[in-house]
Amino acid sequence: MSNHKDATENESRPFSMPFTAGVAETKTPDLKIPSCDCVICGKLDPCTIVIIGASGDLTARKLLPALFSLKLEGGLPDTFNIIGCARTKLSDDEFRNRVKSPATPPGTSKDAEWQSFAANLFYRVLDYTDQSSFESLKQFLLQLDKTRGTQGNRIFYLAIPPHLYQTVAQLIGRVGLAAEGRNGGGWSRIVVEKPFGRDLRTAIELDQRLHEYFKEHQIFRIDHYLAKETVQNALMLRFANSIFEPIWNRRYIEYVAVTAAESLGIEKRAGYYEEAGVLRDMFQNHMMQLLSLIAMEPPSRFEAEQVRDEKAKVFRSLRPFPVNDLGHSIVLGQYGPGYVDGAVVPGYRGEPDVDPKSLTPTFASIKVFIDNWRWQGVPFYLTSGKRLAAKLTEMVIQFREVPHSMFRRLFVDQISANRLTLGIHPEEKISLVFQAKNPGATVRLRPVTMDFNYSQDYSGPVLDAYQKVLIDCVTGDHMLFWREDAVELCWSFLTPILEGCETCHNQAEMLRFYAAGSWGPPSFYDALVRK
Ligand code: BG6
Repeated sequence: MSNHKDATENESRPFSMPFTAGVAETKTPDLKIPSCDCVICGKLDPCTIVIIGASGDLTARKLLPALFSLKLEGGLPDTFNIIGCARTKLSDDEFRNRVKSPATPPGTSKDAEWQSFAANLFYRVLDYTDQSSFESLKQFLLQLDKTRGTQGNRIFYLAIPPHLYQTVAQLIGRVGLAAEGRNGGGWSRIVVEKPFGRDLRTAIELDQRLHEYFKEHQIFRIDHYLAKETVQNALMLRFANSIFEPIWNRRYIEYVAVTAAESLGIEKRAGYYEEAGVLRDMFQNHMMQLLSLIAMEPPSRFEAEQVRDEKAKVFRSLRPFPVNDLGHSIVLGQYGPGYVDGAVVPGYRGEPDVDPKSLTPTFASIKVFIDNWRWQGVPFYLTSGKRLAAKLTEMVIQFREVPHSMFRRLFVDQISANRLTLGIHPEEKISLVFQAKNPGATVRLRPVTMDFNYSQDYSGPVLDAYQKVLIDCVTGDHMLFWREDAVELCWSFLTPILEGCETCHNQAEMLRFYAAGSWGPPSFYDALVRK
């Protein structure tokens, strides 16, 4: 990890988010990392995974491919069933064909592996609001436990629209499928995807409904960002090295910038997105989790509850947003028509099923402070938007400038400060920019970049986010899932912002337009950086 390159080359990079200018690409030396071939240690309990909402896109596009890959990599129990449930009438075989991966052409070895996997797939028609339908599902589960030895261990994965979460969770509970360890039953877990409510009140209500039948240890609230390798790595970098922690504070850090820029638009999700907007879609979950990983105190043990305790403390320390002075703390934007990858794309208001006068923000940049000793006065800039110039996800730690420059007589230029970037996309890497002497007779400095590419010289299995999430549900590990208190704390922080933005008299003026394919509203950061 010692290679470096002239960081001034960054200037030619096509992207340059103001807070997170990119770093140069380099090759790192062969580190000869030992590869580990198994994706889990130890034996997994036999279990049945019930996917509720199995006729939808998520099941065919993400869940089944992830489960199939897990099976190939030895990441599923020896004995398992996957039951797809939805309102659509399908036979087991029709369901199997529907979710079959195109990457398993007949006659190939992949196809043989698929056939063996598919023998564990079943389908049941389920009416999401009818208790008798859940009774029949229960009977089928009991029968499978007997014939296939799944010992009453169950995961209920809700791949349904969020307005159905409460009803479905209650019906699962009412027919006795949430109970654990009784009448020969094993464990029972429920998996919910975001959004967990649309404000504090609805989030509390959802939690109360879930808790009518499920205890907190049975609930798995997914945030797929947490399952990303380099996101998980943030804690390893901070707490498995001794050199970062002493400088990881207000004394040395000028600001932190977390960016999740996307070039995609809203795809076919107008119905959901019009209601959610970028703040609910990206900030209430992914951005807050990224913030907490940078800001949290070291837990004394790497255990789910301890890590989640520390995150909750960060959320509890968020300084209440200055809702009477939104202009200096938040910039909201919406994309207009523009070009992405050389093609003309419509503006948000021109997307199918979007209100032509919509005021839904597709971009936000907010300045957040954490009121504790470590972070007092350090701004955290969180920025996310759709239809930006490129997909770029990263966390930047911008260090302070040197307190005194002994070179000031030699250079007119300011010496730029160190910057550590944890890249999540497009490259999973860690980069550190620092100053070095320019080779040659004259004394000059240049900023250089030291890179570590995350997967370099590693050839073992790499799990995608859904694989990781599913494997953790099977093992019952909560480390990468939201806990109730954290969800509610984040909603307490965000709800006043949403209310402020959605009910203010100048909602339309607050929304700044940007061309699709640009980096957001022009100079948006000026408003935030100025005090
Ligand atoms: C989802 C949001 O949670 O995350 C989407 O609902 C967004 O709007 C997506 O596109 C981004 O995820 P990723 O992994 O592509 O950065």
